[in-house]
Amino acid sequence: MRFPDQHLDAVALQDFSRRFGSIQEMLTGYHEPGMPEVGILSNVVENGRPIGLADAGQDWHTDMSYNPTIGFLNVLFAVKVPRRDGKVLGGTCFVNTHAAYDDLPSEVKARLADATATHDFNKFWENMRRRPGSTRGPMSEEQRRKAESDRTLAMLFAHQLQPKFQYTHRWTEGDVLVWDHVGTLHSAIADYGPDEHRLMKRCQVMADRIFDPACACWRRASSQGPGNRPFVPPPENGRS
Ligand SMILES: [Fe+2]
Repeated sequence: MRFPDQHLDAVALQDFSRRFGSIQEMLTGYHEPGMPEVGILSNVVENGRPIGLADAGQDWHTDMSYNPTIGFLNVLFAVKVPRRDGKVLGGTCFVNTHAAYDDLPSEVKARLADATATHDFNKFWENMRRRPGSTRGPMSEEQRRKAESDRTLAMLFAHQLQPKFQYTHRWTEGDVLVWDHVGTLHSAIADYGPDEHRLMKRCQVMADRIFDPACACWRRASSQGPGNRPFVPPPENGRS
């Protein structure tokens, strides 16, 4: 969901984001002064020091899926957008994973109906181990038994990245983009140079309040499906 032409200070961005749940603090140190819930993503360098995280999210992923409390929403506010020869750079690509699931063959849906997924570090370990010079040990027997899982995941990963499920957002200064982590993937496009400045402010909202029974009306409203979601703010006096 896009809210164009916004003029928000850090407090307003934080207050808006808190309406939807708790906000994960930035652990990188790149955040508004005294406000670890308002992160800064930027390639701007001031006084020899980067003011923000410069390489955030430059591959397909969804945020915080590995946390005990998963991510719910990302709220990203565009302050500076790079351009070259009139072309907007530094876009963000999205995949609609609801649509990707709906498009799976019915026999695949049936096979996956009771499947569970664990978000862990093993796949990254194996990728690192295959690099020249790696001293990491071979996979364990348990890891080898995961081969069927790997084939299924490879099929699903390729399926969900088909262009028909994708949308690329070209930013304009003042855009606030709010997206649902559970039903999307996203990837930042690193097509700009160090002197083409990009500055975003971000709040990462956790999926805590959305599962609170007191917030059931909000959950019902938000479950109408992608592309048809009315904006219904949760109660002002709820937990934040
Ligand atoms: Fe991300």
